[in-house]
Amino acid sequence: MSYLIVRNIHKTWETVTVDFSLECEKGTMTCLLGPSGCGKSTVLNIISGLEKNDPDYEAQLEITLDGQRIEKLAPRLRGVGMVFQSGALFNHMNIVNNVAYGLISQGMKKKEALKKASDFLPEFGLSGFERRMPQTLSGGERQRVALARTLITQPKLVLLDEPLSALDADLRKRLAAQIRDWQKKMGFTAIMVTHDVSEAEAVADNIVRFSK
Ligand SMILES: Nc1ncnc2c1ncn2[C@@H]1O[C@H](COP(=O)(O)OP(=O)(O)O)[C@@H](O)[C@H]1O
Ligand SMILES: [Mg+2]
Repeated sequence: MSYLIVRNIHKTWETVTVDFSLECEKGTMTCLLGPSGCGKSTVLNIISGLEKNDPDYEAQLEITLDGQRIEKLAPRLRGVGMVFQSGALFNHMNIVNNVAYGLISQGMKKKEALKKASDFLPEFGLSGFERRMPQTLSGGERQRVALARTLITQPKLVLLDEPLSALDADLRKRLAAQIRDWQKKMGFTAIMVTHDVSEAEAVADNIVRFSK
């Protein structure tokens, strides 16, 4: 049985109907590739539980992750971590607190979480960034914090929604290669959305192409 099984996502928006199924193996990176507006984010949002299937199709939806049915669980109980295009950092918290946040909300003691977060930063090229505030970071640095903040909690599945699209081409290429390295090293399972073919080819084990 596959590590992730997604069956019968069905969501109708005004302009598009998203019909989608997918299977992924543990430790792999799958890219969803397609033009803007074809429903890529909708797929991620239904997997993470931020969005629901159309009512008529709710009963058909199946999401099995690591042997457990999760489609009826609340988002925070699914073992799914998300990274968005804009990073969505907590602007009132410094970097080490941003990275420690997920551990603390999982019940780890604050002191231990901060130590773990601090030890995690160098892996993401963020040594010495502990006390910096998000507003003082470049776009690439912010996305590295966003990735660190999600990966430190070791989610069973990582969903990356165009995490590189706000960056310029050079940086995008470098960070894509880094994401691939982290994925190989940490062994996490991920689905990444992109509209860029070369980005998908650089990071993916499997590519799923959407058409409109
Ligand atoms: N909450 C929503 N309400 C209405 N329409 C939506 C909503 N979310 C997405 N859509 C529409 O559904 C289509 C697919 O959106 P989305 O999944 O964000 O596509 P993609 O991520 O591939 O660009 C778009 O036309 C978008 O405007
Ligand atoms: Mg999108």
